[in-house]
Amino acid sequence: MPSNTPPVIGFICGSLRADSINKKLEKALIKQYKRAGFKTTSINLAKYDLPLFHGDLNEPAGVKALVRKFKSCDGVVVISPEYNGGLPPVLKNAIDWTSTTGTDHFKAPYWGIASCTPGPMSGIMCMRQINYILTRLGAHVSPVQIGVGNAASAFDPSGELIAEPSATLAESLIQDMRERI
Ligand SMILES: Cc1cc2nc3c(=O)[nH]c(=O)nc-3n(C[C@H](O)[C@H](O)[C@H](O)COP(=O)(O)O)c2cc1C
Repeated sequence: MPSNTPPVIGFICGSLRADSINKKLEKALIKQYKRAGFKTTSINLAKYDLPLFHGDLNEPAGVKALVRKFKSCDGVVVISPEYNGGLPPVLKNAIDWTSTTGTDHFKAPYWGIASCTPGPMSGIMCMRQINYILTRLGAHVSPVQIGVGNAASAFDPSGELIAEPSATLAESLIQDMRERI
């Protein structure tokens, strides 16, 4: 971190579900990033009110607001559920809508990817797709991805991420973002 001002990391979750295990992971990561000295902000996609994209729609106000939010961040961590081996529509929809305005907001922040699943596979397929899409839009994406499988036993009662290797991967992503931002 070159200056005295702490870098701002945005956290965007691909699940809007109240009891989401990915929101749980988001909360755990936010605590870890704060402890590491970063400023954090949660980017709640529900607040941007983006209809399902198709080319005849007028751009809703939420699109430019979301682009501004991305641009205000030095780094963004995407935390996403895996749906049928891919990324959820709410996340792809947000990426697609904002890509219609340009790609600067993908190029400027440094990106991280995480995923949490109830089973053991830890979202490796959706993380690969998110990585591909972001990279195609010109994003610089960390090679460190935080996969968290077996969600029921991955967190302690206070919500801290305790499962290995996920907890160590989270520290590695924080370190990589510290060096790259
Ligand atoms: C439509 C759908 C498809 C799913 N496909 C997968 C999958 O491919 N891989 C996986 O590990 N879990 C899959 N799941 C299970 C999700 O990982 C699980 O529902 C998880 O809790 C969703 O994340 P959330 O709790 O953050 O909402 C799927 C769930 C749904 C609803």
